[in-house]
Amino acid sequence: MASHDRFLLAGVMGWPVMHSRSPMLHNYWFRHYQLAGTYVPLAIRPESLAAALRALHPLGFAGCNLTIPHKQQAMSIVDEVDAVARRIGAISCVVARPDGSLAGTNNDHYGFICNIRQEEPAWRADAGPAVVIGAGGGARAVCYGLIEAGARRVVLINRSPERAAGLAAEFGGPIEVLPWAQRHDALDGAAMLVNTTSQGMVGQPPLDLRLDKLPSAALVTDIVYTPLRTPLLAAAQQRGHRTVDGLGMLLHQARPAWSAWFGIQPEVTRELRAMIEATL
Ligand SMILES: NC(=O)c1ccc[n+]([C@@H]2O[C@H](COP(=O)([O-])OP(=O)(O)OC[C@H]3O[C@@H](n4cnc5c(N)ncnc54)[C@H](OP(=O)(O)O)[C@@H]3O)[C@@H](O)[C@H]2O)c1
Repeated sequence: MASHDRFLLAGVMGWPVMHSRSPMLHNYWFRHYQLAGTYVPLAIRPESLAAALRALHPLGFAGCNLTIPHKQQAMSIVDEVDAVARRIGAISCVVARPDGSLAGTNNDHYGFICNIRQEEPAWRADAGPAVVIGAGGGARAVCYGLIEAGARRVVLINRSPERAAGLAAEFGGPIEVLPWAQRHDALDGAAMLVNTTSQGMVGQPPLDLRLDKLPSAALVTDIVYTPLRTPLLAAAQQRGHRTVDGLGMLLHQARPAWSAWFGIQPEVTRELRAMIEATL
C-alpha cells in the first residue's frame, strides 16, 4: 500500500449527481484504510464539463468518476483516451496526472466481471453461450468484459435492431445478433443470461422475457440494481437458477480508480456492500 502525506481528493461529476452512491462507497474506503481524504459529488452542467475537468489538477484532485450525462462528452476533452474507453465509447474514470494532463478510461467492464467472479467463483466465460439483452452503454461494457474474459459466443438481442447490429459490427468477434422477437427462444442452450436494459428498474415495467427455454444450470444476472432483486432475478430464482445482482458491478468498478488515483487496490467487503444495500 502506498504511503500518503497529503489529503487525498477525488469525486464524481454528474448532472444531476446527488443520487450517486459513489461518495458513500469511496468515503467508506478512506475510513476503512484510515486515510485522510474525501470523495465529493460535483454537480457539473454539461457546458461546464471541460472547465471542471481542467480544474481537477489545480484543485489537487487525483481524478474523478463520470456519470450521466458526461461519459461520452469527456472523450473529446481529456488528453488521452485509452483503448478500453475507446472501445466502450465512454469514459467512467478520469485520472489527473502529475503534469496536469488528463487520462480517461472505463472500468465498468471490470466491475461486471469482478462481481460475477466474486459471487460465483466457479463461473467461466467460455462455459457456453451468453445471451445479453440490451445494446446501450451498459451492454457495451458487459460485452467488452465477456469477450476479454474469454467468451466464445455472445448472443446480443436489443429492441432496436440497428443498435445491436452497430455494437456487433464494432466489436466483431464472438457477438451474434438475433432479433428482439427471438429473445425467448434464444435462451435455449445458454450458459448465462444478462439483462442490460433499463427494464425491471424502479418505475419501469419488468423485462418482457420468458425463461422456460433457459437451461437450469444457466446463471442469470442483471446490471440493474434498483431494486436489487429485479423481477427477472426473482423469476430466475423461482426456477432455481443461480443469480447475481447488479450492485457488485457498481462496487467493483470503483476499485481500479483507486489504484490509478492513490496506488491502492481496495476491497469490496461484505460491510461495504451491506452499507450501500441499506440505501437501495
Ligand atoms: N450496475 C452497474 O454498475 C450499472 C452500470 C451501467 C448501467 N447500469 C444500469 O443498466 C441500465 C441500462 O443503462 P444504460 O446506461 O445501458 O442505458 P442506455 O444506454 O440508455 O440503454 C438502455 C437499454 O435499455 C433498452 N430499453 C429501454 N426501454 C426498453 C423497453 N421498453 N423494452 C426493451 N428494451 C428497452 C434500450 O433499448 P433500445 O436501444 O431499443 O432503446 C437499451 O438497450 C440502467 O438501469 C442502469 O442503471 C448499471
